[in-house]
Amino acid sequence: MKKTILITGCSSGIGYCAAKGLQERGYRVFATARKRSSVEKLLAEGLESFRLDLNDSNSIHFAFEEVMRRTGGELYALFNNGAYGLPGAVEDLNRDALRAQFETNVFGWQELTNLVIPVMRRQGYGRIIQNSSVLGFVALPFRGAYNASKYAIEGLSDTLRLELKGSNVYVSLIEPGPIASQFRTNAVQALQKYIDIENSFHREKYQGVLGRLNKPGPAVPFTLPPEAVLKRVIHALEAEKPQARYYVTVPTYLFGILKRILSARALDFLLAKSGNNN
Ligand SMILES: NC(=O)c1ccc[n+]([C@@H]2O[C@H](COP(=O)([O-])OP(=O)(O)OC[C@H]3O[C@@H](n4cnc5c(N)ncnc54)[C@H](OP(=O)(O)O)[C@@H]3O)[C@@H](O)[C@H]2O)c1
Repeated sequence: MKKTILITGCSSGIGYCAAKGLQERGYRVFATARKRSSVEKLLAEGLESFRLDLNDSNSIHFAFEEVMRRTGGELYALFNNGAYGLPGAVEDLNRDALRAQFETNVFGWQELTNLVIPVMRRQGYGRIIQNSSVLGFVALPFRGAYNASKYAIEGLSDTLRLELKGSNVYVSLIEPGPIASQFRTNAVQALQKYIDIENSFHREKYQGVLGRLNKPGPAVPFTLPPEAVLKRVIHALEAEKPQARYYVTVPTYLFGILKRILSARALDFLLAKSGNNN
């Protein structure tokens, strides 16, 4: 029997690469996306696809029921992936902005996960893979909303792992550094929607932020293609005992080590420096 996996955010980037790569590897992939046009594109490419908008509880429930209907109530794995980054200084994030970031990146993920857990407990196996980030364990200036959402995912995942101990359901966090995708394009849209640049203390700084986000090609060194994430997803799916955390890219390994060995003050110095001109 084919192993089944539900993936969110498959219109582009990591989700798209994972959907294609896992289908080629023999998985039965439910490659979901929030826009109808994305679903149509995925269907045309031979993937099983339907809508799942993480901002909409009805859509989450409908997609989950659709998976259950198609598999007869079984699901091997969930890859929580669909998300976006809202750039902006913390002091410029109003309640709506923070709420919007958490609706997609945290609440939608947990709502879906909580539908899937009883299925996995009942069947006696399962894998929950969370696409976190290097920004799930270190902070950078102007990434407060996104940082907070990924820290939240790390906290929920760490707790869930303890609560699922002995159930044969494993939770793994993938922590990519910079990966080539549509992430920056989508971040520009979020910035324009939620941040009042003109009235911000940081308005000049935002020109630098926009410059980085609009720069074609990799914005920073050591950017890897999404296949680098796929490799870790495959390990999290197929290892007998998957890891709790998977780093991806040199900056992630580097900051992982620096976080362990440096004082908070020294780490702040480096993070402020590396995030300062963008
Ligand atoms: N790229 C990086 O450098 C990087 C680094 C670390 C972690 N990550 C994480 O990797 C994951 C995938 O991002 P990516 O780099 O592949 O960026 P991406 O190309 O922008 O893909 C993000 C996906 O999330 C979807 N999405 C956004 N809002 C959604 C919603 N409300 N419901 C369902 N799907 C939604 C997008 O759909 P639409 O096309 O409809 O917007 C898109 O399919 C994210 O969790 C991100 O935080 C990325």
